[in-house]
Amino acid sequence: MTTLYTGISSLVTNNPELESGLLGELSDAAFIEQDGQIVWVGSANDAPDADSEVNLDGKSVVPGFVDSHAHLVFAGDRSQEFEARMSGKEYSAAGIMTTVNATRQATDEELDENIATRAIEMYRSGITTFETKSGYGLNVADELRSLRLAVQHTEDVTFMGAHVVPEEFKNDKAAYVSLVKGEMLEACAPYSRWIDVFCDQGAFDYDESKAILEAGIAHGLLPRIHANQLAQGRGVELAVELGCASADHCTHLSSKDIELLASRNTVATLLPGAEFSTRAQYPDARRLWDNGVTVALATDCNPGSSYTTSMPFCIAVAVRDMHFTPEQALWSATMGGAKALQREDVGMLAVGKAADFVILDAPSFRHIAYRPGVDLIQETVISGTSIYRSNK
Ligand code: NIG
Ligand code: FE
Repeated sequence: MTTLYTGISSLVTNNPELESGLLGELSDAAFIEQDGQIVWVGSANDAPDADSEVNLDGKSVVPGFVDSHAHLVFAGDRSQEFEARMSGKEYSAAGIMTTVNATRQATDEELDENIATRAIEMYRSGITTFETKSGYGLNVADELRSLRLAVQHTEDVTFMGAHVVPEEFKNDKAAYVSLVKGEMLEACAPYSRWIDVFCDQGAFDYDESKAILEAGIAHGLLPRIHANQLAQGRGVELAVELGCASADHCTHLSSKDIELLASRNTVATLLPGAEFSTRAQYPDARRLWDNGVTVALATDCNPGSSYTTSMPFCIAVAVRDMHFTPEQALWSATMGGAKALQREDVGMLAVGKAADFVILDAPSFRHIAYRPGVDLIQETVISGTSIYRSNK
């Protein structure tokens, strides 16, 4: 069964072989989907026949957003902490324990429902692939159940027992690091594709992070790092040294960090929701692009530092405050995310890739940043199946 989508004013393919420019953007375009994959892309005039046809009447289409960084397994709410911050209080990693306490007290059903609710929000914002991690359990049983629940919702699941040192270990950090890279990792590795560490001020230092990530690698997990969010440090250096797919946050970067990222092709994943919600300085994406660093954009959805599931919001902030061009922001939220997750099947609309796409109620992707806060997502399609349709 083939379906032809036609009448597309602007189609972002992310395939520069099809059309010059970063996004391989086609106008008056069409594509054909079969069995969940793209089987033909081109100009509407050249479109072959298909079993059925959907005319999009001048709407635009982009690849589904790939959210390579989210923390969806949690319970509770930290709106008071947000309110205090907006009144001048500084963000600190210590707030994570509030969510850990709420998460430990929640039932499996409550946690599962929370993940599902946030995932539906993501689909409504055009996200078709998302990563999620543990990190609000911080003991063997609660990290394990976080991951067991997460694998029901996505294949990109990350073990992050090294989020912060929980209260009960506050006088013996070394013992907690041993637990994470020993018994906890042993229990959690079968449910995870990735391992992540918060290598930053108030969390784990270079040596601790390195020991934990190396233990994860020895268990077959792929490493990634929360790096340089709260202060300059050695997180990016470690990400590059270990060949991490991505260094995430990158709020505070030295010139040396940028050189390192470019030299090993480690993706810098920027998280504008975090700077927005913690009133931190925005990193300069233009500086990264100009130096040849591959950049991804992700939501960082979590109840502490970035409680948003909206990729269009992140794109708008990235363009306005991080100095991305609209094209760069769109690429980073699609192909950039796919690269940060080392996923070959998503992030572009080309023959053989997943038919994961978003129909925008706008003439082109440029309207995402141009019309901030306006819901332009008309429909979200994953593997050829519509999973959200606006009833506007
Ligand atoms: O990515 N940086 C560390 N972890 C989260 C925040 C977690 C929290 O405040 O609950 C982040 O921003
Ligand atoms: Fe995060």
